[in-house]
Amino acid sequence: MKNIVVLVSGGGTNLQALIDAQESGQIKNGKITCVISSKPGVFALERARNHQIPVRVIARKEYPDVAAYSRAVLEAIQEEKADLVVYAGFMTILDEQVVKAMPNKMMNVHPALIPSFCGKGYYGLRVHEEALRKGVKVTGATVHFVTEVCDGGPIILQKPVAVREDDTPEILQRRVMEEAEWKILPQAVAMFCDDLLEVRNDRVYCKSAADGTGECC
Ligand code: GAR
Repeated sequence: MKNIVVLVSGGGTNLQALIDAQESGQIKNGKITCVISSKPGVFALERARNHQIPVRVIARKEYPDVAAYSRAVLEAIQEEKADLVVYAGFMTILDEQVVKAMPNKMMNVHPALIPSFCGKGYYGLRVHEEALRKGVKVTGATVHFVTEVCDGGPIILQKPVAVREDDTPEILQRRVMEEAEWKILPQAVAMFCDDLLEVRNDRVYCKSAADGTGECC
């Protein structure tokens, strides 16, 4: 059974999708053992407590810089003996000391089809505002491993979502969550916990449970 630590900063709907997947048995070889929030008082903490999941608040604003904050989060991750760390709406950047300690053991969900609308400055609603400004007809979500390049790590799963003419950023954000994020994040976590993911040459391959031949996700 793998220990999963989930990092959050806000409402926690992706955390909820993971909790639901754990309770339904979709994630069967992993357990969310701790939720760490970069902000106090966010609803994600309430969601964890409602399911008796231990929480820690490591407030970004209490640390002078990214390095000090990263050290504190890494210490907590190690104390929790995390096998997998999931960024689920985690809006704070951690530096390479964390990435180096957990290579291909941290994943992030991003609300666009990477490499579109990603990287520094693209987070939350902003991603959808930019997608609508550009007039793309298709957007979606991506789950990828975290590396030192912001939103640049190996891609695990992606799911497209159609953009409609009357979409607002808020409506599009909600549809991308419902149709893509809440599906592919639990799916990627379940695959990781079942030891089905393999990274070779910066690409993620899925070892099919049936034949073990290493077909690409
Ligand atoms: C989600 O759409 C997630 O993909 C996005 O923030 C939202 C958090 O919602 N994350 C990023 O933009 C990170 N670059 P949630 O707190 O309800 O899961």
